Amino acid sequence: MTENQFTTHADLFDLSGKSALVTGGTRGIGMMIARGLLQAGARVIISSRKADACAEAQHLLSGFGDVRAFPADLSGYDECQRLADLVKADSERLDILVNNAGAMWREPLETFPNEAWGAVIDLNLKSPFWLVQALLPALRGAGTADDPARVINIGSIAAIHVADSPNYSYASSKAALHQLTRVLARELGPQHVTVNAVAPGPFPSQMMAAALDAIGDTIVAKAPLRRLGRDDDMAGVAVFLASRAGAYLTGAVIPVDGGIATTASGT
Ligand SMILES: NC(=O)c1ccc[n+]([C@@H]2O[C@H](COP(=O)([O-])OP(=O)(O)OC[C@H]3O[C@@H](n4cnc5c(N)ncnc54)[C@H](OP(=O)(O)O)[C@@H]3O)[C@@H](O)[C@H]2O)c1
Repeated sequence: MTENQFTTHADLFDLSGKSALVTGGTRGIGMMIARGLLQAGARVIISSRKADACAEAQHLLSGFGDVRAFPADLSGYDECQRLADLVKADSERLDILVNNAGAMWREPLETFPNEAWGAVIDLNLKSPFWLVQALLPALRGAGTADDPARVINIGSIAAIHVADSPNYSYASSKAALHQLTRVLARELGPQHVTVNAVAPGPFPSQMMAAALDAIGDTIVAKAPLRRLGRDDDMAGVAVFLASRAGAYLTGAVIPVDGGIATTASGT
């Protein structure tokens, strides 16, 4: 039996000295996560397609810590490689990779276009894989048995329950991402890299704006916790998964949804 080692409460969630990459960190859930990691002491690189959004988000987040932003379109393999090279040029070690950038396509079944498959699957499913692959040496370089490197994939409750929304490629991409999380967790655990997923419920963001304008009140009224997700709800789970507190979890898909999907009645 190994001896228990107790960590102070503050140290349990401390990320001082850690480095992180948060894709899609310029707004919405990615920015909530980037802010949380910065406040816990990590150095954070954020990324998104638009250079001006990157500059603006870097400026906003710099009040919380050491943050830089690199523009990249992660829907393509080459751009994922280029971003990974930029990250590795900055430091040979990467402690935390948050695969958050994602896209949704809502359209009725009859008119759901073919391009709504490639665009969504490439960004939501393939790019997390490409980034893990390209950044594996840096993650392996950071992880130890006591303190593994962390991959956090942002999935969705759309892959846990069936949403009232024609989101065929989106829900499928997130279900596949949840399973990819488990597949990678099994392989990378012995290499001191944990791989977990967060499945958010409704959080206000650009992606969710139209849906929340239309049916936000109904969602809140039916949600067991009677509210939408807030910045701290997402920052909290990310800091937990990235810190000593979450060092013994891998292959988990954690719903952060106020009970919407976790208590769905099925009727
Ligand atoms: N909000 C929710 O309620 C909710 C619920 C469940 C799951 N999620 C998941 O949470 C993640 C973030 O969603 P969000 O609601 O915060 O969405 P959002 O507000 O639309 O933000 C998406 C982020 O990803 C970036 N992005 C989009 N396409 C990209 C591309 N091709 N390459 C690189 N970056 C790209 C965006 O910046 P640019 O436009 O500058 O590229 C932005 O920073 C997604 O994976 C989403 O599926 C969200």
